Amino acid sequence: MYYLCGIKNYFMSKTIAGFSKLNKSEKIDWIIDTYFSNTPNAKTILTQYWNSDEKLQQLHDEFIENTITNYYLPLGVAPNFLINNQLYTIPMAIEESSVVAAASKAAKFWLDRGGFKTSVISTTKIGQVHFIYKGDYNKLQQFFKAVKPKLISDTAAITANMEKRGGGILDIELRDKTEDISGYYQLHASFETLDAMGANFINSCLEQFAKTFKSDALNFDLFSEEERQIDIVMSILSNYVPDCLVRAEVNCHVDDLVEKDTISGRAFAEKFVQAVSIAEKEPYRAVTHNKGIMNGIDAVILATGNDFRAVEAGVHAYAAKNGRYSSLTHAKIENDIFSFWIEVPLALGTVGGLTSLHPLVKLSLEMLGKPSAKELMQIVAVAGLAQNFAALRSLTTTGIQQGHMKMHLMNILNQFEASKEEKAVLTEHFKNNTVSHSAVVDAIENLRANN
Ligand code: MEV
Repeated sequence: MYYLCGIKNYFMSKTIAGFSKLNKSEKIDWIIDTYFSNTPNAKTILTQYWNSDEKLQQLHDEFIENTITNYYLPLGVAPNFLINNQLYTIPMAIEESSVVAAASKAAKFWLDRGGFKTSVISTTKIGQVHFIYKGDYNKLQQFFKAVKPKLISDTAAITANMEKRGGGILDIELRDKTEDISGYYQLHASFETLDAMGANFINSCLEQFAKTFKSDALNFDLFSEEERQIDIVMSILSNYVPDCLVRAEVNCHVDDLVEKDTISGRAFAEKFVQAVSIAEKEPYRAVTHNKGIMNGIDAVILATGNDFRAVEAGVHAYAAKNGRYSSLTHAKIENDIFSFWIEVPLALGTVGGLTSLHPLVKLSLEMLGKPSAKELMQIVAVAGLAQNFAALRSLTTTGIQQGHMKMHLMNILNQFEASKEEKAVLTEHFKNNTVSHSAVVDAIENLRANN
């Protein structure tokens, strides 16, 4: 009992009412008092990441609630991406040390071999109103048929601008899901949102559908009193977008795959195709294989102000679309031609959201030539394919650690606060020596002992 009181007091001392109403400085003071009374530099760490331009800082403060500081990620660039005969330098925001280097290497490799070819297969997005109806399905179908034009016309104020540009609601279907859950039905709607990711547009339309659907049911003559009481559970877009699909590929003669490696082009191609087949068949490998693809995809998504959680969720669901988690990429050798491709669902925006707010996002989009959402889908798919190519190339030849640890070297040196001179000496040393954490620590200690 005494012990439980102790726990209660511990938690009580860390709860606070009205935190969001405090100003930034008060919030920081509370955090420092509550969690960092023994860390004298905690406040300095938080405040040193503030931007000295107050307006810019305020912009970032207001992206979310309860901002106390900024969280930096490096923004790198991978040049030399030839996509449909156009050159791009791709911006990538990511913390993992080898990703940008790998992307740049893959871009350079394919630059000399015809580059990447891409196409957008489809751009349809989905949203659903989930509801419970206890009654005769035939009557519900009749009600849906009667109300469908009104569902659409009641959203006129929301859809006007989108329609002017050529997008809008494509269709609404009534779906019977009662085999899964008793009384469960959906309004399953499809949308074209053009250059917008479309989450707000779709959700606003759905909430209006739900309102109209519920209120018109109250006056539908064929319904009994109970049938009129349609219970809306929720209205929300789906991040599963299998019909918002893009393809990217590379092709070349197997002999052209030789670089300076000892392995022949054909042997490399065969091993590569084998590695992809393993990821197609073996979920444990597929997850890591696809994680490597997402290294490239997420980095561009973040740099261009898109929602990487939405993309991640949709991509992994797509990877499991046949009932078993599998590779997003595929490869084959046919008539001595090596082909490697990805098909991936990507719901992206190049207008709205952070795209017109975050100065680095604006800059990234400008670097890419202010792409449409369709163009951005193709660039992002290429970043994923390139990343997977680089990973598989290393994995099937030298092994991944050689490149990884070379890039990780700088992180270890920074951990030990190596000076510029020490970094130069040790980088040179590890050009010819295997990098491991202990080897780097030994080398730093040796260097320092001898100086
Ligand atoms: C590491 O972030 C990504 C890899 O594991 C991907 C892969 O194994 O294909 C190298």
